[in-house]
Amino acid sequence: PELDSLLNLHEIEELATKKLNRKTWAYYFSAGDDLISKRLNNEVYRSILLRPRIFVDCEACDISTTILGCRVGSPIYVAPAAMARLAHPSGEAGIAAACAKRPNLQMISHNASMTPEQIVSSAPPHQCFGWQIYVQIDRPRSEAMLARINRLPNIKFVILTLDAPVPGKREHDEKSQNVASKLPISSAVQGGSAIKPDPKGKSGGGIGKSLFAGTSPKLTWRTTLPWLAEHTNLPIVLKGVQTHEDAYLASLHTPQVKGIILSNHGGRAVDTAPPAVHTLMEIRKYCPEVFDKIEVLVDGGIKRGTDVVKALCLGARGVGVGRAALWGLGAGGPAGVERTLESESVSIQRAI
Ligand code: FNR
Repeated sequence: PELDSLLNLHEIEELATKKLNRKTWAYYFSAGDDLISKRLNNEVYRSILLRPRIFVDCEACDISTTILGCRVGSPIYVAPAAMARLAHPSGEAGIAAACAKRPNLQMISHNASMTPEQIVSSAPPHQCFGWQIYVQIDRPRSEAMLARINRLPNIKFVILTLDAPVPGKREHDEKSQNVASKLPISSAVQGGSAIKPDPKGKSGGGIGKSLFAGTSPKLTWRTTLPWLAEHTNLPIVLKGVQTHEDAYLASLHTPQVKGIILSNHGGRAVDTAPPAVHTLMEIRKYCPEVFDKIEVLVDGGIKRGTDVVKALCLGARGVGVGRAALWGLGAGGPAGVERTLESESVSIQRAI
């Protein structure tokens, strides 16, 4: 009943903020430096106006689509985000249960708090997932993870995140002290991360920094894609593209690269990096052929159905939510995530 009274993502975030412990809130909320990219991610949608047409039959409004070959009930997908069990004991499996309803596509973080096997097996057999990798300095470790992913038939593609070769300077996370006994950090990381976060979460540390400790800062077009192609036949999606130049380069790597995600990591990597909409506009202007070659997804700052519609009108195939899914989980477990996805979908239907 508490959830039913929440009408939008602002209210869901407000409830989660009240319920979550301070360290978890700080880790989820945090972004790089002065939070300029994080704020702009949402504000940019406010400055784009829609041009509603009249005499359009809106009785049967179908928002289902396909994203990277997966049939989904909505273009909204759950972006890969670490450590969902900090929000709720059901963790990423709880998100999967909520996604199975419509269904929505879920991307599993490399730093998920449950194993990919646990997450996938908690969903119905038809449910689609992507799995996100942070390539480790210890390459055999990444190769072993990929071998596990290759064996899971519900995982349809691998997302390679490239916008955070080093962790952002997230001061909310670094400053906030861990409330040690309540936070299952040491047991939370079950994904591919080499280093477990310091369970004491000392000030000056930060969960984000600890999670990045084993990540390779040495990835290149020339070496990393061939390495990845050697270890998986799954389609590859490059996440964290922030310029039209890189979007164009990605489009030269078909057929294995099937998509890109325009993202500044929710403002959590380089502050003052552009919001995805800016990059989307650049691609439209300088290299629109990219849209014909690969699927272009966006994330960052999505709060309303009108934001989703604007991104789709500008050429995006799907739109990701990161924090919103975690706030939903914190506000009410799987039902809270469902409420999040449902309130966005209803508002897209209204916006169309
Ligand atoms: C993230 N994000 C992220 N991205 C990724 O590729 N791998 C990861 O492990 C994580 N982890 C993560 C944790 C938390 C707490 C957040 C908030 C975000 C980034 C995520 O996929 C996405 O790009 C942004 O969250 C989108 O912005 P919004 O929707 O949070 O504004």
